[in-house]
Order: sequence, then structure tokens, then C-alpha cells
Amino acid sequence: MPKLVWLNGQVMPLESAVTSVADHAHLYGDGLFEGIRIYGRKVFKLDEHLARLFHGCTFMGFEMTTTPADLRATILDVCRQADIANGYIRLNVTRGTGLGLDPKHIVRTPNIMVMVSSLALYPEEAYEIGLSVITSSFRVISPDALDPRVKAIGRYAANILAKQEANRAGAGEGLMMNHQGYIAECTGDNVFFVKDGVVRTPHPSCGILEGITRNSVIELAREAGYSLEETFLTPFDAFTADEAFLTGTAAEVIPMVALDGRKIGCGTPGQITQDLMRKFREHTHSGVAF
Ligand SMILES: Cc1ncc(COP(=O)(O)O)c(C=O)c1O
Repeated sequence: MPKLVWLNGQVMPLESAVTSVADHAHLYGDGLFEGIRIYGRKVFKLDEHLARLFHGCTFMGFEMTTTPADLRATILDVCRQADIANGYIRLNVTRGTGLGLDPKHIVRTPNIMVMVSSLALYPEEAYEIGLSVITSSFRVISPDALDPRVKAIGRYAANILAKQEANRAGAGEGLMMNHQGYIAECTGDNVFFVKDGVVRTPHPSCGILEGITRNSVIELAREAGYSLEETFLTPFDAFTADEAFLTGTAAEVIPMVALDGRKIGCGTPGQITQDLMRKFREHTHSGVAF
């Protein structure tokens, strides 16, 4: 599948899309991004992703040159041009271009990119047998240092370290704690545990990205009549859970069946997990058509 990029107003093949080495995200991680899925020629949760991006821009003080409505139209147009049924959109916005930390001294015209590509994070069998996860020694950035609602490029240094640690251990993901020792999230996914029929996930104040997939699953679980709590969880809750699963745009909903070599529940995807996976798959048809 050809990968198409819209960069600052121009559409081109991925190979031709280049930005300045003085881009502020290249120099300082001073940018924001969104990963968005395309299911059946529809962009899933497009408005939610745009809202998160623009809230991030406001928080960071980026001088945006486009509106959510215009960027939305651009994204749908690039998808149309890419002519892709199922895929992945990477949306990046950086503050601008110029050397030096101080935004006052740079050209503050954001560099905006929409990349339409494909993505398969885990093989299909991982959704059937579930992931083994390790507890990472790397913690999430404390929410009082950088608000986790900002999906800033720079914050991913810690997550990449945690992902490498998981890779070295042969695990599918790394579970990151926060500065207080509460469970936060995995490197690119939110986490849920099921105990005695109650579905629990870390409260946003634990320093998690408030995932759009997480929010969809919370809604689906509540609609289905499950009791759902956003709360404070420790490794005790993970090791004693009956079931666990991860959620994220890239990972979708995937069972987590072991932590640090110890089985969670029976060590196979649980009933509630499978039910929510099914419900989520049905829900993926609800996107914006292009
Ligand atoms: C650190 C982190 N947590 C959670 C998520 C899941 O968020 P979403 O469901 O919005 O993709 C992501 C994915 O972007 C992430 O990077």
C-alpha cells in the first residue's frame, strides 16, 4: 500500500516528505501527535483525536494556523486520496522551526503532518492467546511535571525505554508505575483489570494518557451493565486479578494474561475481556466516512 503524506498543505509520497532539521520537535521534542485508525473506509473517533490534539496545542501555546474543522477536512481528503480501507493515520503538529529553546526566537508556524499508513502492532494470534507483560522499572512522567493529557512527543522517551526493557524480557508490553507506585499504563496502551466481575482501570490522576480507546471501552462496559471503576491500583491488584486487558488505538483491545511470568487468572483471555473485545470490534464501524 502506498503511504501518503500531507505536509504543510502538500500531498506527497512518504519517501518525499521531509522537514527541517531545525524543526522544534526534532530539536526538543516540542510537538504533539495523534495515532488514529481507519476501519472500513471510516476514520475512528476522529473528533475525539482532534479535540485532544487542539487541547494540547492550547496547553503548549502553539500558534495554530488551522482550525479543527479544516484539519478534519484535510484528514478525510488525504484518506480519500490514499484510497485505503483499513489503516493508520499519524497526525503530528510541531511548534515551528528554529534553533534555541525559547519559542520567542523561532518561526512559530506549526509544521503539520498527516500520514496515512498501515499498522499491525501484534499478530492475530496475540489477540487469541494474550500478551505477557513485565513490570517496567521506568515510571511514567509524574502528572505534576507534565500533564499526561498532553500527548507530547517528548514524553515518549520514558515509554521507549520501558518498551526496550519489555523487548529484552521477551514480553509484549511493559507496565509502568507512577511516582507513588500506583499502576499507570503500558508504553502505548491503557490497562484494565477484572476482579469478581468488576472492571477496574487507573484513574486519570495516576498519570495516564486518557486514552480514546480506554474511554470507548469504559462506555461500552457501562452500557453492557458491567460495574466499572476508575481507581488507584497496585501490583497486588494486578497479581490477584481474574482477567486483564490493554487498550490503545494501535493495540485495540488485547488480553493481558501474565505479569512478570505469573499468570493472571487462568492465564488465558477472560470472559469479560473477550466480551469487551467483541463489543469494541463492533464499535469500530462507527467512524467518520470519507
Ligand atoms: C502512553 C499511552 N497510553 C495510552 C494510549 C492509548 O490511547 P488511545 O486509546 O487514545 O490510543 C497511548 C496511545 O496513544 C499511549 O501512547
